[in-house]
Amino acid sequence: MSPPCFVANWKMNKGIAEAESYLYALEKHTAQQMDTPLSKIDFAETILAPPFTALSFVSEFLKQSSLRVDLAGQNVHYGGEGAFTGEIAPSMLREVGCRYVIIGHSERRQIFGETDPEIHEKLDAIVKCDLRPILCIGETLQERKDGKTWAVLERQLSEAFGEILQGHGTPENISEWIIAYEPVWAIGTGQTPTPGDVASVHRKVRECLCQGLKKGRPRILYGGSVNETNIETFMKEKQIDGVLVGGASLSADKLIKIIERGTAVKRA
Ligand code: 13P
Repeated sequence: MSPPCFVANWKMNKGIAEAESYLYALEKHTAQQMDTPLSKIDFAETILAPPFTALSFVSEFLKQSSLRVDLAGQNVHYGGEGAFTGEIAPSMLREVGCRYVIIGHSERRQIFGETDPEIHEKLDAIVKCDLRPILCIGETLQERKDGKTWAVLERQLSEAFGEILQGHGTPENISEWIIAYEPVWAIGTGQTPTPGDVASVHRKVRECLCQGLKKGRPRILYGGSVNETNIETFMKEKQIDGVLVGGASLSADKLIKIIERGTAVKRA
């Protein structure tokens, strides 16, 4: 079984100074648990998604440190290079040390009007650049009330994956890709679906992927008001491979608790 995955999406938070104290806190924690046979933080797969301006700093910090943490960009443009004021190309994220890119986050869909075809272009561009997508999908409260949850998720999935889900060749590293189910109404609200509800959505996502993918499966994470007190209930579900955390991940202490508690549940 692959280790559980924890993604910390800082969103538009933390400059370099705050990023530095956060990383020191993670490092200090790792140093303190060196005497345990298997470092809890090391066992988990942890991915930090800082804002663009902190990426380079965080990347350099990680190179000098013993922390085994990966980096993700929070967004990307699908063009190569060129006249796209304010945008960042996949190759730039790679150069700065990212292995992953978050795409299709509901904040980008809703606030910045990102569409399914654009998300597909982004997925294509980042995969060509040897980066791994963290594809976010999720329904709004109204869509849920109207009984359209699965229709929305299926559309978001199939439009983002495109021909891959129609059986036209499964990318070699598909098992390193990540899908994050984030119901829009659960983001930053303190409200969550029940872990059982999440598990049944994840099962459907898996079934849908199975139809098109020849081998390998992306990991499927849950996101939306995850914190250090509810993490165990989610991670108890076999269908949930990890979590994508926003607000609670802004505190290094809370992130550590989420990783420790989440990992302990998966190990049990
Ligand atoms: P919260 O954890 O703050 O609800 O945010 C979830 C999220 O949007 C992560 O990408």
